[in-house]
Amino acid sequence: MSQNLFDNSEFFEKYKALRDKAYNYNNLVEQPAIKALLPDLSGLKVLDLGCGFGSNCTDFMKRGAAHVVGVDISSKMIDVAKKENAGSAIEYSVMDMMDIPKLSHTFDLIFSSLAIHYVKDFAHLVKIIYEKLNPGGILLFSQEHPITTAPKFGPVWTKDDAGNRLYYNLADYMVSGERHVYWFIDGVEKYHRPLSEILNTLISTGFRIEKVVEPLPSQDALEKRPELADEFHKTSCIIIKAIKD
Ligand SMILES: C[S@@+](CC[C@H](N)C(=O)[O-])C[C@H]1O[C@@H](n2cnc3c(N)ncnc32)[C@H](O)[C@@H]1O
Repeated sequence: MSQNLFDNSEFFEKYKALRDKAYNYNNLVEQPAIKALLPDLSGLKVLDLGCGFGSNCTDFMKRGAAHVVGVDISSKMIDVAKKENAGSAIEYSVMDMMDIPKLSHTFDLIFSSLAIHYVKDFAHLVKIIYEKLNPGGILLFSQEHPITTAPKFGPVWTKDDAGNRLYYNLADYMVSGERHVYWFIDGVEKYHRPLSEILNTLISTGFRIEKVVEPLPSQDALEKRPELADEFHKTSCIIIKAIKD
């Protein structure tokens, strides 16, 4: 059973406030990098796993997708998506992404932004994604970088006397499995997998990996949020594009 973190009211309000800020990490770093890997979406069927507030679904429709399905385990997130990002070609569902075999369609692109590290059984998820893709279909996803998900205990940064981050304290990198961290609230559950496990799971399922990106802030992003310079110690997320040949 997957944790439904985003339906926790306290977490939801704090997360929404973060995403409502124009200069957040997602808008400045992750979104430009993942969007740069999108194919021409004209006429394609797209599935967004962990679609959240649905802004990517609207973007896919504007880019010409014929049909977009957004699924999210959180009814609070889907409520916002239906209000703020509705569209004639978009369908939203409150659904655990592990249940996508229940969907009647197959897709040309399965997309997921910063949601897959919440899933326990990555191998099974990759298998059901593969089965839901049409031949030649694309899996494009971002997740927290394995260096980010690795430590079991904090503090994750060594800082100088002035509070500047000097070193990232990497630990337990090769120990796959559940992590419990503080992010707005205690007990946020996520899953760590070393990079080799992520890549080899995709390869053994039948995917061809086309691109792996560790996104960095642009000069413009650094001017807007100077603390993003910490991304040069280690990137917060990783982006993978894989093809079902
Ligand atoms: C960090 S948010 C990202 C939302 C959106 N993809 C975006 O980029 O704005 C992660 C989302 O994944 C959803 N999520 C987490 N576990 C899930 C699961 N097992 N099935 C479906 N959605 C899930 C959460 O409810 C949340 O909306």
